Amino acid sequence: MKKIPALTIITSTLILITIFLACSKGGGGTNPPPDPCSGVTVVVNGSAVNPTTTGGNNGSISATATGGSGITYSINGGTFQSSGNFTGLTAGTYTISAKTSSGCTGSKSFTLTDPANPCAGITINVTATTTNPSAPGASDGSITASATGSSGFTYSKDGTNFQASGTFSNLTAGSYTITAKDANGCTGSANFTLTDPNPCSGVTISVTGTTSNPSAPGASDGSITANATGSTGFTYSKDGTNFQASGTFSNLTAGSYTITAKDANGCTGSASFTLTDPNPCAGVTVAVTTNITNNTPCLTANGSVMAMATGGLAPYTFSKDGVNFQSSATFNSLAAGNYTITAKDANSCVGTTGAVVGNLPAGPLFSAVQSMMQTNCAPCHNNTIQNGGMNWTIDCNIVTFKDRIKARAVDANPSSMPPTGLLPLSERQKIIDWINAGGKFTD
Ligand code: HEC
Repeated sequence: MKKIPALTIITSTLILITIFLACSKGGGGTNPPPDPCSGVTVVVNGSAVNPTTTGGNNGSISATATGGSGITYSINGGTFQSSGNFTGLTAGTYTISAKTSSGCTGSKSFTLTDPANPCAGITINVTATTTNPSAPGASDGSITASATGSSGFTYSKDGTNFQASGTFSNLTAGSYTITAKDANGCTGSANFTLTDPNPCSGVTISVTGTTSNPSAPGASDGSITANATGSTGFTYSKDGTNFQASGTFSNLTAGSYTITAKDANGCTGSASFTLTDPNPCAGVTVAVTTNITNNTPCLTANGSVMAMATGGLAPYTFSKDGVNFQSSATFNSLAAGNYTITAKDANSCVGTTGAVVGNLPAGPLFSAVQSMMQTNCAPCHNNTIQNGGMNWTIDCNIVTFKDRIKARAVDANPSSMPPTGLLPLSERQKIIDWINAGGKFTD
């Protein structure tokens, strides 16, 4: 039996079906209706916007068709929609089809391309958390960077060697530029600074010391030996600028000194020390002696004290009130009384002594007159009866008014005293002798 090829059978069948369908359409035997799209040309126009980034999906096509009404649009054979705008497109070639309400169609291809520079529009930001070294000079700092703005990042801290992790460890203090690179080689970078901790935080440096005062006032042989604690590797300074390994400072005069100690990290502490000159008066005894001249009563005060000082450093100055000092050792015009004489030497070391200025005693001639007058005159010239304003019970009145006494009791001028008549010559002679001798209390 001769075989009939299968293809021949299928082809024949299709032809038969087509003939059948053509004959049954339109109620058999009549001509088919005219094609509504005959002579109709649907033209698609439009514009495309490329993705702004490589691989980006923000490309778009905006299509408009002419040639009919009720036009709907489809992209790549998809569902028709009323809008000719298609967004969210990646790079590629797209066919936009337009269909009128009559089913007439047209189409146009649009090609969207990625930007020539794959990094255009890409902004990669690098942020990081940093951990500073735990101690000055330590290499245990770290930076953990992360990047945004793209994907597929690798990270580098030298711009050359990239790693998947954004974490860089074992870092010393310093400034680091961390670069992040995305899958397209686009990069972004940022600087991060790791700082050593303050080496002096928590460090308290105490300075103590011993001092040796200058051996004499103004001498420059004092010294300070300072010692610091609280850290190590100290150097010392007494001016805060020049440091030396030793804590000993010599050849110092009296004064106040601030000694600063600085450790190996530059952390400092300081303390003040005061050197004092020795007391120049220690062991010095200024002795004061005086020559006293007593006062003569009934005259302007004329006592005097002449002082002499020994035991201190000349020159001395002298004072009788402890306040006002004079170079002269002699004090004149002193009334009787108790005085304290102070001598001060060149170092202001002082010594004092008491000086008693007395009154000179009455002289014999005065005493004779005074005695005679107490007997002969005082009864009419005393504290209650003062004839002519005279009170002869006060010795100095006798001295002061001696001329009047002579006038009245010796010369009876203008009349005698006592009023009853002159005293015997022997009594009057006492007045004459005293006045001739000078008429003072001490004569
Ligand atoms: C009995 C009383 C009496 C006796 C004592 C007496 N007088 Fe007088 N004296 C007077 C009377 C009163 C006056 C005032 C009247 C006069 O100045 O005459 C006076 C005044 C004075 C005067 C002041 C007047 C003058 O001239 O400055 C002197 C001085 C004086 N008598 C000295 C003496 C002497 C010195 C004696 C002793 C030697 C003395 N009298 C004894 C009564 C007395």
